[in-house]
Formats: sequence, C-alpha cells, structure tokens
Amino acid sequence: MDKFDIVVIGGGPGGYVAAIRCAQLGLKTACIDSWRTEDGKPALGGVCLNVGCIPSKALLDSSHHYEHAQHALPAHGITTKGVQLDIGVMQARKQKVVRTLTGGIEALFLKHKITWLRGHGRLIGERQVEVRGHDGATQTVQGKHLIIATGSTPAPLEQAPFDGERIVDSTGALAFTEVPKKMVVIGGGVIGLELGSVWRRLGAEVVVLNRGKVFLSKVDEDLGKEAYRQLGAQGLDIRLGAQVTKLSVNKKQVSLQIKDGKGEATLKVDKVLVATGRVPNTEGLNVEGVGLAVDAHGFIAVDEHCRTNLPGVYAIGDVVRGPMLAHKASEEGVAVAEHLAGQHSHMNYETIPWVIYTWPEIAWVGKTTQQLRDANRDFRAGIFPFMGNGRAHAMGDTAGLVKILSDAKTDRVLGVHIIGPYASEMISEAVTVMEFGGAAEDIARTVHAHPTLSEAMHEAALAVADRALHR
Ligand code: FAD
Ligand code: NAI
Repeated sequence: MDKFDIVVIGGGPGGYVAAIRCAQLGLKTACIDSWRTEDGKPALGGVCLNVGCIPSKALLDSSHHYEHAQHALPAHGITTKGVQLDIGVMQARKQKVVRTLTGGIEALFLKHKITWLRGHGRLIGERQVEVRGHDGATQTVQGKHLIIATGSTPAPLEQAPFDGERIVDSTGALAFTEVPKKMVVIGGGVIGLELGSVWRRLGAEVVVLNRGKVFLSKVDEDLGKEAYRQLGAQGLDIRLGAQVTKLSVNKKQVSLQIKDGKGEATLKVDKVLVATGRVPNTEGLNVEGVGLAVDAHGFIAVDEHCRTNLPGVYAIGDVVRGPMLAHKASEEGVAVAEHLAGQHSHMNYETIPWVIYTWPEIAWVGKTTQQLRDANRDFRAGIFPFMGNGRAHAMGDTAGLVKILSDAKTDRVLGVHIIGPYASEMISEAVTVMEFGGAAEDIARTVHAHPTLSEAMHEAALAVADRALHR
C-alpha cells in the first residue's frame, strides 16, 4: 500500500489546487481523479476546466464576437458582409482551450511531483482509499490526511429526464454540433442564462422557464430588474413563475406543456436544457460505509476549517456547503493545505465574488439591498449608471449600473453590485476594499484612471455621499 502525507480525491479546482499547495508546502501528495474526456483520456481540472467555467466562457466569447460582428460593428462604421458561422470550428477552438488548460495542470502536477492516480476513489476507512483504475485494476493508498473534493453534478428533473440527445444538461448544451432552431431552458439561473445567451446569439429562439416569480432572486433587486430588461431586449424569452406540466419526446422534437402566470401553453422545440441546480457528488465514495456525515441536502458536513466528522478527513468545494464556485473551491483547497502544514489558514466567505457572464455581465460581492433591509440594517446606497461613463460610450456599451451599499454610520462597504461591460473584472476592486474593511469614502478618494469603466465604481462611491460628479 502506497502511503502519502496527503491524498486528495478529485482533481477539479478544489482538489488540484489543494494538491499543488500541499506539494509546495513539502507534503508528499497524491490526487485521485476519475475524469475522462469524450475520447476516454484521463484529464485533470474537473467540471470547471472540462465542462464548466472554461468551455462556457469560450463559447460565450465566440458567440459574443458573432453577435458583435453582425449587430454592433455597423455603428462603428465597419461594414461586414456575409458573416458566417462555422460551429465545428467554434467547438474545436473551445476544445483546444480546454486541452491547453487541462494539459497545463498536468504539467504543474509533474513540476510539483504530485502522484496523479487516474481512477475512482472509494473510502475504506483509516484514511485509506481504494482506487479503481480505468482498466479495472485496484490499488489502496493511505494518507496521513485526506481531502475530499469530488464536486457536483447536474440535478435531474423528474418531468424532464436527461436523454443526452433532446433533453440535455449543461455538458450536453456545451457540445451541440448545430444551432437549435428553438430551445427551452428549464431554470433561469446562472447556467440557464449563460448557455441560453450563447445559443440565442448564435441564432436559436430561446425560451427560459423559471419556477420562481422573481428573476435572479439572489441578486440585488436593481440588478435583477436591469438584467431582466436587458436580456429580454436581446431576445431571451424569459417566463417567470413557469412550470412544465407535461413533456413528451419524439424523434424530431420535444413538446412541453407549460403553465405560468399568463396561463397554459404548448412549446415544440428541438432541444431542452435542464439547468435547475447541481447536487453534491458523493456517489461511490462509500460515505455511509465509513460513517462520513452528510447534511440534509447530501453535502459532506464540515466545520469552518473544512474538517469532516472523521479525524484527518477534510472536504472542500462543491461537495460542501457554500456557493458552487471554482474560486471558492480553490481558496478552500489552499486554506486546508496551509492548515495541514501548520500555518494559519484564512477563508473569508463574506467576500466571495459572483459573476454571471451574460452581456452585460453581472457581478457582485457582499450583501444585497434585500438582505440588508431584511436584517433591519441602516445603510446608504450609491448608484451610478454606465450611461454617465465616458469609456462605456466609447465602447458603445452603456447599459447597466454600479451600486454600492455601505453602513449608514461607519460607511464600511457592505455590498457592491455591478451590471455592465466587464463587470467580472471590475468587481475585484470591490472585493479588495471589502477584504480591507474599507469604506465607500476610501473608493471615493482613490484616483481612478480616465477614461475607464472603473470610474463608474468611483462615481457610485461618490454617490453614496450624494456627490457624484457626472450625474
Ligand atoms: P469539480 O470541478 O466538480 O471536480 C471534481 C472532480 O472529482 C471531477 O474531476 C470528478 O470526476 C472527480 N471525482 C468525483 N468523484 C470522484 C471519486 N470518487 N474518485 C475520483 N475522482 C472523483 N464556477 C465559477 O466560479 N465560474 C464560472 O464561470 C463557472 N461556470 C460554470 C459553468 C458550468 C456550465 C458549470 C456546470 C459550472 C460552472 N462553475 C463556475 C462552477 C464550477 O465549475 C464548480 O464550482 C467547480 O468546478 C467546483 O470545483 P470542485 O473541485 O469542487 O469540483
Ligand atoms: P442555479 O441555482 O443558479 O439556478 C437554478 C434556477 O432554476 C433557479 O432560478 C430556480 O428557481 C430554477 N428552478 C429550479 N427548479 C425549477 C423547475 N422545476 N422549473 C423551472 N425552474 C426551476 O443553478 P444552475 O444554473 O443549474 O447552476 C448551478 C450552479 O453552478 C450555480 O449555482 C453556480 O454555483 C454554478 N455556476 C456558476 C457559474 C458562474 O460562476 N458564472 C456559471 C454556471 C454555473
């Protein structure tokens, strides 16, 4: 039996980052990962690199270029004729981006002398893991400590079971080889909006069905309203309070009976994407056999240091509580590695940024207006629209706004919410300020380069004290 200081199960952004940090800290580390690409080759990077963050952003970028070339360039005086789509090239490019990055992780594993065990890991007690290789051969490894980072998988929906052809999950919707003529997305959350946007931009008629009546209910109310307006104007047909009451599939199409506030309707479409959330992946781990505690929703139960109920066994990423985000998984991986190496580890769950990569992008950190109101907290809000920002005009991207919420007495920043161009990049300033316990006044007194989109952040901070300059 091979023995290691650390055995990590799962090679996604939680597991592979934990493995790298452990190795950097001098710990003898193995990482077991079961991922295999379509052609059967093992690959590191988990959902994020293979079928999540990276391929979705590659398609979002490609589809943005396609739409931009058709609809935005004429306003710049650039005429394009016969803009054509080669979906094969677009998909091949996406796969190349994925391969480059997963290959990069493999190189980092070699550099840090991390043992990569290709196969499925199953807990068998005493921090031992049985690894079943892709060829069926098994071996047992033991770690002084274990880190479980087995991630999550799409939640199935009873009314619309995945068939991999007409009714697909996000992985299926990332791999379409043709643009669907008409498509329904069940679930108006992050995946539904990102992948719905991709296929709409490429020419599909997309209907998004959301069970809840409030669009993006966890997002600040002003952003939710603006997102609904902007995405709707682009052509996403978003139906709120909508449910699928009946669904049937034949060779050619899917027929859905839907019910929403306006009544009942029948939709006939060629693809259905089900994106109604993800569930923690503990399948085949032998959780019950070793007595590993899970919570009511099936997540592995952990404390603030990601310790499970089993001595020496930690769990991180999507398989534990908290947002299902790659950067959250990675930061937990680093925190656990440093904790195991005897260092002071730090993970601030209050300042994890969120981004939805539609266009305009939606990004936020900290508390929303609704949360502060519900908590009876006195706060001030500063809002600045991109319509008042010079760079946004130069780009031709003036939709959206920046909203800063700060404590009414101390002015400490409690939340920052952005909908607009490159909100994903802009949110970092807010995260840094909040990490340092900064005030809106700190942002207001910081010089921001001109002309940049970040000046909208500056103006929103000024607006908190009612002294925005360009409004
Ligand atoms: P995962 O990435 O799920 O990795 C787990 C790994 O463990 C997998 O390789 C799996 O095969 C392996 N595994 C599971 N069980 C075993 C076992 N028993 N033995 C061995 N190996 C095992 N997040 C963002 O922050 N930004 C984004 O833009 C973003 N976009 C996304 C787009 C899509 C379409 C999807 C689906 C997700 C997206 N996410 C995004 C979420 C992000 O992908 C996840 O939060 C992240 O991958 C979680 O990392 P993880 O390491 O916990 O698990
Ligand atoms: P989600 O939780 O973001 O959204 C699910 C949506 O489906 C909700 O709006 C919910 O009201 C709706 N819903 C649930 N059941 C329904 C039903 N029966 N009919 C109609 N609507 C229903 O989940 P999603 O989009 O599947 O994404 C999963 C997770 O993956 C995200 O929460 C996020 O953590 C991660 N992710 C992150 C991305 C990013 O950071 N940019 C991109 C994609 C995914």
